[in-house]
Amino acid sequence: MANVIFKDVHKSFGSFVALEKLDLDIRDGEFVALLGPSGCGKSTTLRMLAGLDFPTSGEISIGGRVVNDLAPGKRDIAMVFQSYALYPHMTVGENIGYPLKKRGIKGAARAEAVQKAADLLQLGALLDRKPKQLSGGQQQRVALGRALVREPQVFLLDEPLSNLDAKLRSYMRAELIELHRRLGKTMVYVTHDQLEAMTMASRIAVMHGGHVQQFDTPDAIYNRPANRFVAGFIGTPPMNQVEGTVEGGDFVIAGHRVPIDRTAYSADLHDGPAVLGVRPEAISIGSGEGLPATVRLAENTGHETIVTLELPDKRRISARVEAARRLDVGQPVALRLDPAAIHLFEATENGARLNLDDTPASVIPMRST
Ligand SMILES: Nc1ncnc2c1ncn2[C@@H]1O[C@H](COP(=O)(O)OP(=O)(O)OP(=O)(O)O)[C@@H](O)[C@H]1O
Ligand SMILES: [Mg+2]
Repeated sequence: MANVIFKDVHKSFGSFVALEKLDLDIRDGEFVALLGPSGCGKSTTLRMLAGLDFPTSGEISIGGRVVNDLAPGKRDIAMVFQSYALYPHMTVGENIGYPLKKRGIKGAARAEAVQKAADLLQLGALLDRKPKQLSGGQQQRVALGRALVREPQVFLLDEPLSNLDAKLRSYMRAELIELHRRLGKTMVYVTHDQLEAMTMASRIAVMHGGHVQQFDTPDAIYNRPANRFVAGFIGTPPMNQVEGTVEGGDFVIAGHRVPIDRTAYSADLHDGPAVLGVRPEAISIGSGEGLPATVRLAENTGHETIVTLELPDKRRISARVEAARRLDVGQPVALRLDPAAIHLFEATENGARLNLDDTPASVIPMRST
C-alpha cells in the first residue's frame, strides 16, 4: 500500500512562496502527472516527496506513514531525474547495480536483480558498455533501471524524457506506460509537456503559480477545465477565450449574438460580462448566418488545417478544420458554435468555469488512509 498524500503543504524559500495549500491524494498504484509551466512548483513538490526538500508547513505521507522527518533513504521511493546522472566510469550493469551495492547486496543476488531490470528495459545486451557508448534513450533507460532495482513503493520521475528527441520521446512514453502497467507501482511524473501528461497519467495535477489548479482525469482536464488557466494550458492550439457579455439566451461578442444554453450553467451566471471558451475543433466555418469573421491564416499541417480567424473587433481565434478544406486569406466567413461545446468562465483573470457538469478542483474528495 503506497498512496501519497500532501495535506495543506506550504513551501517558502525565504520570502518567496513557491507552493501554497497543496492538497493531493494519490492512490496506490496510480500514475499521476504534475503538469505546469516552468517555475510553477512541480520539482519542489517532487523533491519534498523524495525528502530532498522540506515543507514549510503541512504533512506529506507515503503509504499511511508521515514522512516529513524521514530521511530520503527510508522513504521507499526512487527518483529519476532529467539529467540521467549516470556514473561515466561504470558500465551499464554497474550503474544499475549501484544502489544495491550501496546496500551491501553482493554476488548472485545483485547480478540477478540487475539482469531482471535490464531485461525489463531491454538493456540485456548493453550491460558491459559505458554510458558514453549509449544513445540518450538508452542512457535514460539505465537511469530507470537504477530506480527499478531498488523495488521502491513509489517512483518519482522529474521530466525524464525532456532531453530526448521527439521520436525517442514518443517511444519512451509508450515504454513507461507499459512499465507502469507491469509493475503496478505508484508513479508521480513531473512534466511541462501536456501530451506526456494526457497520454500517460490516470490523473493530472495542473499547477500554476504554486497552486494546483485542477486535479482530475485527462478527460475532465480537457473537457471540463476548472478555470481559464487550465483551459488555456491544454490543447494545441488551446481553447479560444473571448470576452463578452451574457444577455438572456445569448453571449454577445462585438455586437453579435451567439446562442448559449443557459440551463447548462450555474445560478452564478447573471447577465453581464463573462468569458466564452470554445475549442478550435468545436467551431464550424460556413457562410450566411453566424458570427462574422475573416480568414487571416490557414496552416495546413498535413492531416488538418489550423485557421486563424479575425472577429469584427479584430480579436483573433483559431479553428481546426480538415486538411482538404479550402479557405482563402481575406475570405469572409460565418462561424457557428455548438452550444453544447461552449464553456463560460467568470470574467476575471483566472475565472472559474461556470458550466454545471464539473467538479471544481477545490471539492475533490480526500480519501482517508
Ligand atoms: N532552493 C531554492 N531557493 C529559492 N527559490 C527556489 C528554490 N528552488 C526553487 N525555487 C523557486 O520556486 C519556484 C518553483 O520551482 P520548481 O523548481 O519547483 O519549478 P518547476 O515547476 O519544477 O519548473 P521547471 O519546469 O522550470 O523545472 C520557482 O520560482 C523557483 O525559482
Ligand atoms: Mg522542475
